[in-house]
Amino acid sequence: MSDQLVFRPSEAAVANTYATKSQYEEMYARSIREPEAFWAEQAKRIDWIKPFTKVKNTSFAYPDVSIKWFEDGVLNIAANCIDRHLATRGDQAAIIWEGDDPGTQEVITYNQLHKEVCRFANVLKANGVKKGDRVTIYMPMIPAASYAMLACARIGAVHSVVFGGFSPDALAGRITDCQSRVVITADEGRRGGKTVPLKANVDQALKNGAEADTVLVIRNTGNDIAMQAGRDLWFHEAAEGVDSDCPAEPMNAEDPLFVLYTSGSTGRPKGVLHTTGGYLVWAALTHQYAFDYQDGEVYWCTADVGWVTGHTYIVYGPLANGATTLMFEGIPSYPDAGRFWEVIDKHKVNIFYTAPTAIRALMGAGSQWVDKADLSSLRLIGSVGEPINPEAWLWYNKHVGHERCTVIDTWWQTETGGILISPLPGAVAAKPGSATLPFFGVQPVVLSPEGVVQSETKAEGVLAIKDSWPGQARTIWGDHDRFVSTYFETYKGLYFTGDGCRRDEDGYYWITGRVDDVLNISGHRLGTAEIESALVGHPKVSEAAVVGYPHDIKGQGIYCYVTLMAGESYDDELKTELRNWVRKEIGPIATPDLIQWAPGLPKTRSGKIMRRILRKVAENEFGSLGDTSTLADPAVVENLVENRQNRP
Ligand code: WTA
Repeated sequence: MSDQLVFRPSEAAVANTYATKSQYEEMYARSIREPEAFWAEQAKRIDWIKPFTKVKNTSFAYPDVSIKWFEDGVLNIAANCIDRHLATRGDQAAIIWEGDDPGTQEVITYNQLHKEVCRFANVLKANGVKKGDRVTIYMPMIPAASYAMLACARIGAVHSVVFGGFSPDALAGRITDCQSRVVITADEGRRGGKTVPLKANVDQALKNGAEADTVLVIRNTGNDIAMQAGRDLWFHEAAEGVDSDCPAEPMNAEDPLFVLYTSGSTGRPKGVLHTTGGYLVWAALTHQYAFDYQDGEVYWCTADVGWVTGHTYIVYGPLANGATTLMFEGIPSYPDAGRFWEVIDKHKVNIFYTAPTAIRALMGAGSQWVDKADLSSLRLIGSVGEPINPEAWLWYNKHVGHERCTVIDTWWQTETGGILISPLPGAVAAKPGSATLPFFGVQPVVLSPEGVVQSETKAEGVLAIKDSWPGQARTIWGDHDRFVSTYFETYKGLYFTGDGCRRDEDGYYWITGRVDDVLNISGHRLGTAEIESALVGHPKVSEAAVVGYPHDIKGQGIYCYVTLMAGESYDDELKTELRNWVRKEIGPIATPDLIQWAPGLPKTRSGKIMRRILRKVAENEFGSLGDTSTLADPAVVENLVENRQNRP
């Protein structure tokens, strides 16, 4: 290995693994050479009501992109995640819930999970939800959120989970786009000692244009909320006397499982659609191999179920494997910066999976917080969501993993359904900052921006994937053309990830971040277009351009250039107002970090904003602006540089 900083699998990791180096290499080679046979075998890990006879039927050929896996198989995901474990592990904890308030917790066994999910499913049915219907779930991180998801899966309804931090408007757009007639929410959520007015947000969303027939409300904080007769139902009342058994609906492998909205480089968020069979095989297989999950271990992924990481690695992957999955309602800094470590200590967590932004924030808080807790239960620690800088990786390895645990950096996306690039713990040596090597069946391709495939091992460019894998998204809800044009048009015959990357001489992948207009703020994906459209929605704003800039904790920060309507005054008060405005329009995660008043934006003569220049100024790298000769008014740039906001 060429790089100096290489962390080889420990003896313990090798002894514990499902794939040693040679096994990984062998399995990987086979997954590429004989995908049909490989995946037919891997798919046996889940229970099929009717076995498939066809394995792979996929094409990335533009414009006839079509992706089908196990297409004539029949199964039910909830039955796979619950029922099939009952005989062997009915009394084992399926979910350990740790509340926002350190005094609160709950353990849900597989037997209990079965009962809860069945009851939930029967309530949905009683309220007219049928196979194929969409159901929007807008919930705090409480067990009922996973009951709701699994209940939908049980009866064949398609869930659309909307992160509880999104605003009423963002929620309304997502309800409308997939035409959910039922919304599941809670009176309020709890985060960091504060309450989140979830039900009030739903009311607002339904006032602002979205439509729903039924709002099912879970009583969580118990505080008073408004209920609209004829539309809103308390779940606990609706569930009274409801049967605690509900047969699992036989689903075709390609029946939709969920829609999850994510940001793209243009326009409104898109509803990424995942289907049943391939997704579950992918979720279960990656969860087992990437974490080397062993029976009886306690596994904790700190994501929110509102993101894909929560879908695949809190709910579906771990439960399909009969794991104990920990679900945490709170935040890393409440009541203090020791919370994560206390929870690991308290529940004897063996596997911990979090985001680089949390690692950086907790690193900033100081290692004394980590040292207070006994972390000897930990065996593996992972990261996901954004590039992890080597300093954060090394701190994580030293202070959390005590140089004893395996550290994995996993790269994937909402669209990929699960992990695509990650070291397997017993097989692949880690290099801090690299997601290392591809998972079974995944063929990464590095392209020059012009689309030339880089065949040398050492290469740099944009990342695409050559062929389909079972967990891949099938389409964008209601807009297959957008699916095709977003991912398959730029580089014909390949899936384009939107990420830049470097491949080193050992074939390791180093993801460098998005190459499109998608930001990654604390591991949350946001489109610059969404923030711009929120800004220009303000009556005083005439134009806005948003770019990212490096941020120590969040990875990227949100930098907004704003031009006001003629006659408006450029003052600090208005900056605060705009910040609050964007929070209200999209949600707190989209709060602008820096706003720069820009009486003019750098445009070409044809009126196109030169974002490259805006990025450079925001990065405080105005010395290297490159060619500005095509600008309609080069003087604009001087003004931008002079008034730049990101000064060290
Ligand atoms: C980024 C989250 C570097 C990447 C699972 C990707 C990463 C986007 C990593 C997807 C990683 C995710 N290293 N970058 N290990 N993991 N990303 O859809 O830019 O919320 O395209 O899925 O996050 O974000 P999404």
